[in-house]
Amino acid sequence: MALEIVPSGKDIGAEIRGLKLAEPLTAADLTAVENAFVAHQVLVFRDQPLSPRKFADFSAQFGHLQRHIQKKYWHPEIPELVFNRNVDDEGNFDDLAARRGVTDDLRTGWHSDTTYDEIPAKATSVHALEVPSTGGNTCFASAHRAYELLPETIRQRVAGLQVEFQLGNNPRNKTANYLGSNLTDEDKARDTVCHPVICQHPVSKKPAIYANPLIALRIRGLEDAESDEILETLYDCLHAAGADEYRWEQEWQVGDTVIWENRGGLMHTGRLDYPEGERRIMIRCTIGNSPIETYQG
Ligand SMILES: [Fe+2]
Repeated sequence: MALEIVPSGKDIGAEIRGLKLAEPLTAADLTAVENAFVAHQVLVFRDQPLSPRKFADFSAQFGHLQRHIQKKYWHPEIPELVFNRNVDDEGNFDDLAARRGVTDDLRTGWHSDTTYDEIPAKATSVHALEVPSTGGNTCFASAHRAYELLPETIRQRVAGLQVEFQLGNNPRNKTANYLGSNLTDEDKARDTVCHPVICQHPVSKKPAIYANPLIALRIRGLEDAESDEILETLYDCLHAAGADEYRWEQEWQVGDTVIWENRGGLMHTGRLDYPEGERRIMIRCTIGNSPIETYQG
């Protein structure tokens, strides 16, 4: 069956059909998927349950696999895989684990992954093992649209500026502080890193808001009050780009695989809205590295 790309009809997102994920992709199919990835930013492959090893092998076709900072959730045999799960080893609900990358309201949750790294990941892939009966969607929004929504005065004010990120030890961002509370002391002590407030995608060169409400601290070089005010405007634009008519939501089924863009231009967050007591277990890979490019205007 030939590869088929079915766009979601929203700003971002497409389903890829006609591939067997448990087998290596041909060079032509891999190129087609990489091109679709740039065009649509988040791709879903449905209904193909994979073993952890097969999922890691699929993901590694897009770049080398990194070990995630949250060592507590590493897969015991394949440390390049990390669990996104809402239960601990004994099967009890684990609030901290359930809230990784997930918030009660979308506005405070929009983010891209590993922004606390000096060179963040190229992409993230996730494969669903257990899903709740309803809810627990992952939501995606275009940070390119968010930039288009940004007032010209703010665009000019933040041009060339950098935003600080840190996971844990972070009094300016309670959510990031909570999410980082599981880290080792060594990881908590990692330096704050900076990335451009406005980035450009390394392939498309389109501008996008890179600051995010989940992990960012402040805009470097501005007084706190101005930094806070501008960040709120940036987050308003991200959330507007995540409105019903623009965002795309992954409604997870067991066996779904999703790969999403992390080089700029895409934000995501999860919904913590599924029935209490239901399990939600995913495996995840962090793929490759890609320096965040400053928008050149
Ligand atoms: Fe995330």
